[in-house]
Amino acid sequence: MINQSHIIGTGSAMPERILSNKELEGIVDTTNEWIFRRSGIRERRISSNAKEESTTNLATKASVNALDMAAISPDELDMIVVGTVTPDRQFPSTACMVQEAINADKAAAFDVSAGCSGFLYALSVVNNAISCGTCKTALVVGVERLSSIINWRDRGTCVLLADGAGAVVVKARPNRGGILSNHLKSDGKFWEFLHASDGNTYLPATLKDVAKRPFHLKMQGNPLFKRAINCMSEIARDALVHNNLSTNDISLVVPHQANMRIIEALAKNIKIPMEKVYTNIHKYGNTSSATIPIALDEANREGRLMKDAHVLLVSFGAGLTWAASILQWTL
Ligand code: UT7
Repeated sequence: MINQSHIIGTGSAMPERILSNKELEGIVDTTNEWIFRRSGIRERRISSNAKEESTTNLATKASVNALDMAAISPDELDMIVVGTVTPDRQFPSTACMVQEAINADKAAAFDVSAGCSGFLYALSVVNNAISCGTCKTALVVGVERLSSIINWRDRGTCVLLADGAGAVVVKARPNRGGILSNHLKSDGKFWEFLHASDGNTYLPATLKDVAKRPFHLKMQGNPLFKRAINCMSEIARDALVHNNLSTNDISLVVPHQANMRIIEALAKNIKIPMEKVYTNIHKYGNTSSATIPIALDEANREGRLMKDAHVLLVSFGAGLTWAASILQWTL
């Protein structure tokens, strides 16, 4: 019998520091009103070196919370996959750093880089490994510390992006339900719409190069906005058709939280009422690959995920990459 992948625990971890829109008014030429009206964001969390809120530490805290809920010991894990574009180091992977922190000695650990779709890509890798029988228990993490690559002089990005981590524990079980499907898409033609020039481990040749701040994230928001709506709507429909489901069968959509207007347009396109769409962008902003696992954890802890309910996860981000997963909740 082919094993199904079931989510048996969720967790998240946010930095302590809250940065409000009002405070951003003192940093760049912006207003609370503009940020909220154009994005739906009121505040976000920004990590601190002093508080030991590194990418690894945030990922570890989220993982420990997910493992606690799953009531399994880290040494039962045979795979750790982390979606991130802001690792603490170019190598080793964040997954290996988390492995050390939680003592998951038996796991194979590696990262995936798929922009804001990192968590859904990682979930797909784990689902496939479970289906093949090469893995029984896995940890999937989405974590970002975008504040480390934000250009705090660019009002087009610094008001949107933030830090945080979310994680799930996935277990092979013979019973039906769990992860029903993963759809993944990419289009490298448009990589320049959202990128960091040389990575955050860039070693400058001269001081002049440092002044250009080449590690900073650069985004062309407007063309991304339109593509995000189209790509997320299309892949959500593909996922529904693949599972022979209609939007009436979906109890909750947990979308990537990049912009409230994108989320509302997605809901309208796939004809699902906003009451069935989970959003927390107002308090966390866009944490890239972490938005979906953070929202999933909050929805789970708030009791929004009923047993056997169908849940649609859908993302879009740098690459470009986009993805959708349908779950039948069994936790
Ligand atoms: O995470 C996955 C990938 N990312 C996305 O999917 C993000 C997609 N894009 C977006 O969410 C939106 O495009 C933004 C929120 C980034 C921008 O909203 P927009 O409605 O597309 O605004 P815009 O870029 O067309 O800019 C409109 C105006 C411009 O001024 P002018 O040229 O009309 O005078 C901008 O300079 O708003 C100005 N502007 C701002 N004004 C105040 C841009 N940023 C700000 C700001 N405060 N922070």
